[in-house]
Amino acid sequence: MENRRLAVLLSGRGSNFVAIHDAILAGKLHAEICCVVSNIADAPGLQTARERGLASACLPSRGVGREEYDRRLLSLLRPYDPALVCLAGFMRILLPVFLEAYGGRTLNIHPALLPSFPGLHAQRQALQYGVKVSGCTVHWVDEGVDTGPIILQRAVPVLDGDTEQNLSARILEQEHDLYWRAIALALEQRNR
Ligand code: GRF
Repeated sequence: MENRRLAVLLSGRGSNFVAIHDAILAGKLHAEICCVVSNIADAPGLQTARERGLASACLPSRGVGREEYDRRLLSLLRPYDPALVCLAGFMRILLPVFLEAYGGRTLNIHPALLPSFPGLHAQRQALQYGVKVSGCTVHWVDEGVDTGPIILQRAVPVLDGDTEQNLSARILEQEHDLYWRAIALALEQRNR
């Protein structure tokens, strides 16, 4: 039996999660979201997951040690048996204890052409550097920050007069079309 279950982890807006779910609903991505987990109780993405009738959970991180948090995350995910864990704006670094279980099965999306501009404010970093092309990357998660083997990338031009806001919006539009395609490739690899 193929496992095409996706766990989505998010901390905020959740537009990438929505784009993944929409691709599933539209029959473009053959997968199922088995749970949406957020470390932030009032993350809009978590609310959207509830409205969409998806299994969802808040696992608050405040006051919890980093390793303990990842252990709790593992316990939460275990019953759902996800094929892949998709980070979609999940603002935490996963530790070896998590990656021992889900390494090679965890994906992340980053709003720059890695290995350029890892970390926070990637679009601002790109503007400050003055690159003419930026974009987005979906990659496997390893123990580094936005490192790990690249699955797919999409280039986005940086235009004269771009602000962080409009460059981010232009990149985000491409993120929404890229993530589900990378998930499809990753599922194919996993189920081969
Ligand atoms: C996206 O820009 C993603 O690349 C980055 O965090 C942002 C999350 O946005 N990792 P959203 O919550 O999916 O709307």
